[in-house]
This record gives sequence, C-alpha cells and structure tokens, in this order.
Amino acid sequence: GNTTLLAPSILSADFTRLNEAVTTAQEAGADWIHCDVMDGHFVPNITFGPFIVKAVAACSSLTIDTHLMISDPDRYIPDFIEAGSHQVTVHQETCPHLHRSVQLIKSLGAKAGVSINPGTPVSTLESIIGDVDLVLLMSVNPGFGGQKFIPSSIGKIERLHEMRNTYNPGMTIAVDGGVTTENAQELVSAGADALIAGTAFFKAPDPAEAARQIKAASR
Ligand code: DX5
Ligand code: ZN
Repeated sequence: GNTTLLAPSILSADFTRLNEAVTTAQEAGADWIHCDVMDGHFVPNITFGPFIVKAVAACSSLTIDTHLMISDPDRYIPDFIEAGSHQVTVHQETCPHLHRSVQLIKSLGAKAGVSINPGTPVSTLESIIGDVDLVLLMSVNPGFGGQKFIPSSIGKIERLHEMRNTYNPGMTIAVDGGVTTENAQELVSAGADALIAGTAFFKAPDPAEAARQIKAASR
C-alpha cells in the first residue's frame, strides 16, 4: 500500500541548531515539518510563534505543517501563513466558529486541518470533515513532547477512517503524540496516513533509521 507520511516535530529538536535539525529531517526522507505552537492558555506550555515558523520555513523545502494549540487562533492564522505554513491545523476545542476558521485558512491559500484532544470524540468532527484537508488526532494531551501514547486513540483512528470513507475520501488522517517505531504499524493499520514524531525522530540515536522504520509502516 501507500507509504506513510512522516512529520518530525521540531519541538524535540535542538533549537540552538535549528537549521541542522531541519536538514536532518529532510535528508531522512521526512515529508512535513511539524511546528507545535503553544500559548500557555489553551495548553499548559508556551513554545513559539510565527517568527520561528518563518525561520524553519527558510531552512526547509518540506511542507510546513503548523499545529496551533492556541486560543482564538483566527487572530493569528494570517501571520502563520505569511510565515510560510503550507498547512495550518486548529483545535476543535478552541474554535466556536470552526467552519469560519477552516475557511479563513483556505482563503489564505493554505491547507486546513482540525485537531481533537484525546477526550474529544471523533463524532464532533462530523459536520466539518467534508471541508478539511486533514484531521490531526491527538494521541496525548497536548502541551509537551515525550509523553506516552494513549491506547484508546487506536479506536478513534479506526472510527475516523470509517467517517472519512463516508464524508471525505481525500482527507489525510494524521496522528500526533507518543508515536514510536514500535507503534507506527499499528497506527497505520488502524487508518493513519501521516505520523507526527518528535521524540522518536529527533531523540533517536539514528534519526534516519527511525524515519525509515516509521515510513515503512503500510496498509
Ligand atoms: C504535543 C504536540 C506534539 C508533540 C509530539 O502537544 O502537539 O506534536 O510535539 O512529540 P512526541 O512525538 O515526542 O510525543
Ligand atoms: Zn503537534
């Protein structure tokens, strides 16, 4: 079947060597660079804003995949697209007007994603799924890299995969949090197309080998 898309999360990289980290990801065959934006409000951690996304984009020829874990994302979506994001994902939990947020992203020329937390059912995506390019299923509670995969996420991937067949066959299913070389195949078998990997890629003794193993997962 199809090979799995790999998106290393820059959050787990050495920020004193951002350019090298991006190059490592590129040379390892990564497909996207995942940028984790946290505001200390929606999630209990603060990371970086458009300024760093712009720096990452300047070092990279890969798809810049920006994950906004922030309240009121509509305020900042234009800045993140201007900074070079090709895909912008907002959280269902932070968007009272989710359809408007998705349309805003698309109107600015980027692909639109919606993410849900581990405690949010996939059924809450039913009305938006036809309008998105990707769904980012969180398999840890967002806020930090290096957390353990939450096993009940497998059932959510399967359920989302069924929903996709009904509502939007072209949509990408991405899984984010606690992805490892060990669980990659199980996630892809359940229906994942893209795997986000922070720790499993950047903290691996051999990132290129980790990338090869994750991308080898197939349906
Ligand atoms: C969690 C972030 C994830 C995280 C992944 O809040 O959205 O993208 O950086 O890191 P690992 O792969 O280490 O769980
Ligand atoms: Zn993320």
